[in-house]
Parts: sequence; C-alpha cells; structure tokens
Amino acid sequence: MRIAVTGATGVLGQEAVEALVAAGHEVTGITRRDSGVPIVEGRGGAAVVADVFDATDLARAFRGHDVVINTLAHVPVGMAGLRPLAWREDDRLHLEASIAIAKAAADAGVRKLIQESSVFLYPDNGTDWITEDQPLSVRNQAFRPRVREMRAAVDFATSGRSAVVLRLGQLFGRDPQTTHALKATREGDPILLGKPENYITLLHHTDAGLAFVAALRADSGFYNVGGEPITRGRWAKDLAMEAGVETPAKFYPEITQAIVGTRLEVQRRSLRVSSVRFMSETGWRPTVGPSTKGWSRR
Ligand SMILES: NC(=O)c1ccc[n+]([C@@H]2O[C@H](COP(=O)([O-])OP(=O)(O)OC[C@H]3O[C@@H](n4cnc5c(N)ncnc54)[C@H](OP(=O)(O)O)[C@@H]3O)[C@@H](O)[C@H]2O)c1
Repeated sequence: MRIAVTGATGVLGQEAVEALVAAGHEVTGITRRDSGVPIVEGRGGAAVVADVFDATDLARAFRGHDVVINTLAHVPVGMAGLRPLAWREDDRLHLEASIAIAKAAADAGVRKLIQESSVFLYPDNGTDWITEDQPLSVRNQAFRPRVREMRAAVDFATSGRSAVVLRLGQLFGRDPQTTHALKATREGDPILLGKPENYITLLHHTDAGLAFVAALRADSGFYNVGGEPITRGRWAKDLAMEAGVETPAKFYPEITQAIVGTRLEVQRRSLRVSSVRFMSETGWRPTVGPSTKGWSRR
C-alpha cells in the first residue's frame, strides 16, 4: 500500500515509517523542514516537505496514497509540562493540524485514516479494567483538541472510508520522556506521579510502530494499544533496574502532586487498560515489556 505518515520525524512517526517499510509498504514521511528529510530517508521512507496546517499543501502531499497515519504530537518533557504555554503547540497540532489532515486526506481520495490518540483520556478506574466502552473523562477544556481530533477522524469515516483511532499507552523506550525519567531515577530525584498501587499501561515505541502496521487490518473504530498493565510501584522498580540502580524511582510528594494541574494530572490516574480488542482483531502483540532487559537501548 502507499502510506503517508505525518509527524514522521518524531518518536512515533519514525517507528511507524520503519515498521511500515519493513512490512513491504511504500511510505511517504511528511516533515515541515528540510532537515527532516534525511531522518525519514534513514528509516526507509520517501520524504515530502509540507505544512501540516495547510489543507491544500497536505492534499498535494497525500495524493495517490491509500492510507494516512497521523502521529503528530509535541509533548513537553517532565515538569516542563507545568510551564505556561507548554502545551500550546501540542494543542494546535491536535486541534488544527489533525482536522486539516483528515479533511485533506478525504479530498485527496485516501481510503483510510489512522489517528494516534491516548489512554490518558480515560478516568481513573482504580483496579478495574478499562475497555474502549469506558466513557472518557474529557470535560475539561484542556482535552478539547483531542476530542475535536477524534471527531475529525469519525467524520472522515463516511462514504466508504474508514478511520482507526489508536489510544496508545504511555510510551517508553529511547524517547526523551523516558530518558529524562531514567536520569532522575539514577540521581535519586522524584519523577513519578500517582501512587505505587495505581496502574499504568505502557507501550514500547517499537511496539507502537508495529501497532500502526497492524492497524491497517483493523475496521473503523477506537482501539486501546498497550502492554500488560502493571502497578506504578512495579514501574518504579523496572525504571531502577534499567537505570542500573538499587533504589526504585521516587514518587513526587503529595503536596507537589496536588498542584500539577489538568495536563499532568492524567499521570496520577490509575489506568488498567485492556488491549484485547486490538489484539484479537489484528493479531498485534507487545514484544518489549518494562522488565525486558535493555529496553531503553532498543
Ligand atoms: N502516548 C504517549 O505516551 C506519548 C505520545 C506522544 C509523545 N509522547 C512522548 O513525548 C515526547 C516527545 O515526542 P513527540 O513525538 O511528541 O515530539 P516531537 O518529536 O517534538 O514531535 C513529533 C513530530 O511532530 C512534528 N511537529 C512537532 N511540533 C510541530 C509543529 N509545531 N508544527 C508542525 N509539526 C510539528 C515534528 O515533525 P517535523 O519537525 O519533522 O515537521 C516532529 O517530528 C517523547 O518522549 C514521546 O515518547 C508520548
């Protein structure tokens, strides 16, 4: 298939391009900058420079493609997420670019849209499992861009077209967020939010790349994508093991956790998310878990 990937130079995009090329697809990676071209080519894709906020520019880039995969994001690392305006670019990407992408894909005759989303939209569900049928916790204005993005994907899925929305677990691997967490763990600084008994659903970025390939086989709908959920206390130990230190990663004190605001509050939630629907429909399985030795170098 001919597949266009937006955000192709990012953490998710690079994994998607490489996995799609390895699966035998012809892949175009979209980047807004000339310096992004060798990054896409390094993963085996062909690069196109285009403005992701411009529907006309995008329609030109998407022409002749069967599928568009949108992996755009700009997530601030660590407590930088508390800074004023830290989420402005991420919001613009989900609110404006994702809508422009869905519209341009339809205009260009693309048949399928695969949209990255997140398990952080679910409410804290304690020790109970979360399936795709769980209502989302998105009333706060901060979640508006993600809601509008989902709506754009649903609107795309008419007139014989299909849209697959992947609610990805918390990414871990070689990415900046996890590298920051490993450094804090090594230095004995607090890094984790929530409580040790809360659940977390993780997804190694290699498995995220493979999930985009598997999503080509999925029917229209929403799918959770993550590994076996573990407690945050277990994750604290896994981080220490990977960081090469004895002491588990530390949790922020409650007083700090109380003031993290809406964006980081999602990281305090207990999210025991089931990916059974995605696994049974596509055959996708996680291959790297948080206790797989050397996961930060893969
Ligand atoms: N589910 C999750 O847990 C999750 C999801 C996403 C990200 N993250 C984490 O967040 C951290 C940052 O990763 P990321 O992928 O968000 O960051 P990123 O690498 O900064 O962004 C991804 C891509 O989006 C494009 N982009 C970013 N800002 C843009 C803008 N203002 N206008 C147009 N294009 C823009 C860039 O492409 P060009 O520069 O080539 O145009 C970039 O390569 C990582 O540690 C990652 O693991 C976690």
